[in-house]
Amino acid sequence: MSQDKTPVSPVASDIVSPDIVWHSHALDRKQRETANGHPAFVIWFTGLSGSGKSTLAGALEQTLFLQGIKTYLLDGDNVRHGLCSDLGFSEADRRENIRRVGEVSKLMVDAGLVVLTAFISPNRAERQKVRELMQAGQFIEVYVDTPLEVCEARDPKGLYKKARAGELRNFTGIDAVYEAPEQPDIYLDGSQPVETLIEKLLFILKSDGILPA
Ligand code: ADX
Repeated sequence: MSQDKTPVSPVASDIVSPDIVWHSHALDRKQRETANGHPAFVIWFTGLSGSGKSTLAGALEQTLFLQGIKTYLLDGDNVRHGLCSDLGFSEADRRENIRRVGEVSKLMVDAGLVVLTAFISPNRAERQKVRELMQAGQFIEVYVDTPLEVCEARDPKGLYKKARAGELRNFTGIDAVYEAPEQPDIYLDGSQPVETLIEKLLFILKSDGILPA
């Protein structure tokens, strides 16, 4: 095949072998979106451990699902039981965690789904890379801004206690950094009740035309 006819991946990435060629298939995301009756995109929750990401993502998913929207939830703790079970909490491992989740989210968007993700995703640069994997408007960053004191008081898994006691290293907010989004697409004050925040999320998603009203 001559060079100019070679199909090119829609995303430039670090492919190890030069002999891997992108294959365009007949059925595409747009057809799946039309069949589903809604667009496909990612709602990316970021915030400290205990900020409420998983709870909010789960509650929003249930609400959307009941409205007939095709959804899937990727949750940090759950993904670390399988796809990312080989990764810890060093900076490099967290980068790889978010890279994999970004790629999986992209596949799920291609499958026509509304993907909800709940990962601390502490680094701005890694979140930005995931945004760049997607098309414009397909990555909606939701910052769950819950003060460290509130997360620590909730401490649902007792991990802050362990981190303070020095039994757990690299714990986000204690001895590992969290870089808050400077311009999140949606800002949530995580100390408000879950129902209030879900109403706010639904209102924004529908009034901004992200989801059909
Ligand atoms: S991320 O930093 O790579 O995005 P991720 O969201 O997958 O983290 O996992 C965070 C969850 O792992 C936390 O909610 C907590 O339950 C658990 N955890 C275990 N060790 C740590 C740690 N050192 N820092 C943060 N979370 C940890």
